[in-house]
Amino acid sequence: MRVKAPSSSANLGSGYDVLAVAHDAFYDTVELQATPSTEAKVEIVAEGTPSDPQKNSASYAVMRTLDEMNLKYRVRIKLIKGVPPGLGLGSSGASAAAAVVALNEALKLGLSPDDLVRFSSYGEEAAAGSAHPDNVAASVVGGFVAVVSQNPLKVVRIPHNYDFSFMLFIPEVTITEKTKKARELVPKEIATSKYVGNLRFVTALLLGLQKGDRDLLRLGLNDEIVEKSREPMFPYYPKLKEVALKYNAIGACVSGAGPSVLVFVDERTDVESLKREGLSVCEAYGLRCKIKMSKVSEGARVEGSD
Ligand code: HSE
Repeated sequence: MRVKAPSSSANLGSGYDVLAVAHDAFYDTVELQATPSTEAKVEIVAEGTPSDPQKNSASYAVMRTLDEMNLKYRVRIKLIKGVPPGLGLGSSGASAAAAVVALNEALKLGLSPDDLVRFSSYGEEAAAGSAHPDNVAASVVGGFVAVVSQNPLKVVRIPHNYDFSFMLFIPEVTITEKTKKARELVPKEIATSKYVGNLRFVTALLLGLQKGDRDLLRLGLNDEIVEKSREPMFPYYPKLKEVALKYNAIGACVSGAGPSVLVFVDERTDVESLKREGLSVCEAYGLRCKIKMSKVSEGARVEGSD
């Protein structure tokens, strides 16, 4: 069974651990073989990601699925990485999503999309130490998604009625245990006034997507809590966002736990000037950035099925 799953950007401003979007910037592909066995055993071959099945998000998610469903199979996974890891692009999530969807297809398990997301999210535990479901939700289901309940896990696809593209600024950096560190920076408690402010942003974003309203989208792509708390890790972000808005991007946010930045652009955006000046911002902060243009993607698919 060969399945590919898209990269994604989580949070989208104030939607920490709740909102995400799948994009066609990059894809991970999983080739999975399952044979009946006396005990569950998972092996993984993966270039550039851990080869210990307990530490790789793809194999770990499959192990947990077999365990919870009491299935005895020997599963061999070949993971072909397309999504660069450690850059806030949902890399571990895409691997886990592709692997769990491949297992579901191979064994005809008939899992619901919510179950696929739940099992895939275990992969994030192996990769980042917490089973946050937002990236995997986008990689499994596709489009814009909201995780509206954690237990039981429930994901809803968010309709969007605006034709935008994404411009991703991707710094070429390696930050060890980046997501874990970024999560530790998030405050445990916040003032009610900040909560209200962020709730307004989320509401504006959801309505902006649904109504196709550019001004609401711009307002909604903000966050005064999580992005703020993580700024020490991504000091270039406020300046990059300022430049994005100067050249009339719709809005910008940190992509997941960073370091990449997701900019929403349309035909009113001066894309070339934004690219040029955005790259100089990166340079001013001692970073080399790549730019990748992309669109909203569908979720994980069996290869050759569409
Ligand atoms: N919602 C998660 C975070 C995404 O911001 O920590 C991590 O990719």
